[in-house]
Amino acid sequence: MIKLVDVHKAFGSKRVLEGFTLEVNEGETMVIIGYSGTGKSVAIKHIVGLLEPDEGTVWVDGKEVPRLHRDELYELRAHIGYVFQFAALFDSLNIGDNVAMGLRKEGRLNERDIMLRVGEALDLVDLPNVESKFPAELSGGMRKRVGIARAIARRPKYIMYDEPTTGLDPVTSAVIDQLMVRMREKLRVTSIVITHDMRSAYTVGSRIAMLYEGKCRQVGTVDEIRHSQDPVVRQFIEGRPSLDSAEAGV
Ligand SMILES: Nc1ncnc2c1ncn2[C@@H]1O[C@H](COP(=O)(O)OP(=O)(O)O)[C@@H](O)[C@H]1O
Ligand SMILES: [Mg+2]
Repeated sequence: MIKLVDVHKAFGSKRVLEGFTLEVNEGETMVIIGYSGTGKSVAIKHIVGLLEPDEGTVWVDGKEVPRLHRDELYELRAHIGYVFQFAALFDSLNIGDNVAMGLRKEGRLNERDIMLRVGEALDLVDLPNVESKFPAELSGGMRKRVGIARAIARRPKYIMYDEPTTGLDPVTSAVIDQLMVRMREKLRVTSIVITHDMRSAYTVGSRIAMLYEGKCRQVGTVDEIRHSQDPVVRQFIEGRPSLDSAEAGV
């Protein structure tokens, strides 16, 4: 289970999170929606200990992340796959080496087993036999899928997806959505998906939370969010341009 409890985080005088609380249950996919720059990425960086809260705390599997020592943090990160907003593949490495990176760093498996895991991960994202290709030879959507393969190669318990469909065309986005659903069903992973694409949120989410002005504005099932009566949530999910027009019912 992942729990963010009353997390506050500021950068200089800029307050980003101001009491953000969110609980993610085992096996669910929690979608975090919210405007650009509201702190969605900042929030999930606290879960893997890339950022520390100024106040409040974060729990993962009963461990308090900000209190972990460095080696405990590395151990925790081994169980959390992270799909970065920009595919973040190394252009000079082939796909196999990109996907194998975490496994090699971990040093637990021999090279043969690593390549088996890599093949298995690439199969799961429907990209069999691309190990010897280079990132530049793949489309944007394929690179995203390689990013997912890299995240799952270590068989994590959790996956964080930071804007996995941003910048992709609708058809490619739908493919990524289906893959995220598949990861939940086949691998039984618990995930957090950051997105501002509502179609994606409705497709992959077990529940949806909206981050607004540093706090969790509303959290609920897909249906609860879809039928939210909160004007702030409604404005966001309907993509309407301003709160004034929302209140006027335009
Ligand atoms: N390491 C950092 N140092 C300073 N400011 C940061 C840092 N990371 C994020 N921010 C700021 O925090 C705010 C929230 O960023 P972010 O979490 O990336 O937003 P988003 O909701 O779009 O993911 C932004 O104003 C961003 O500039
Ligand atoms: Mg972000």
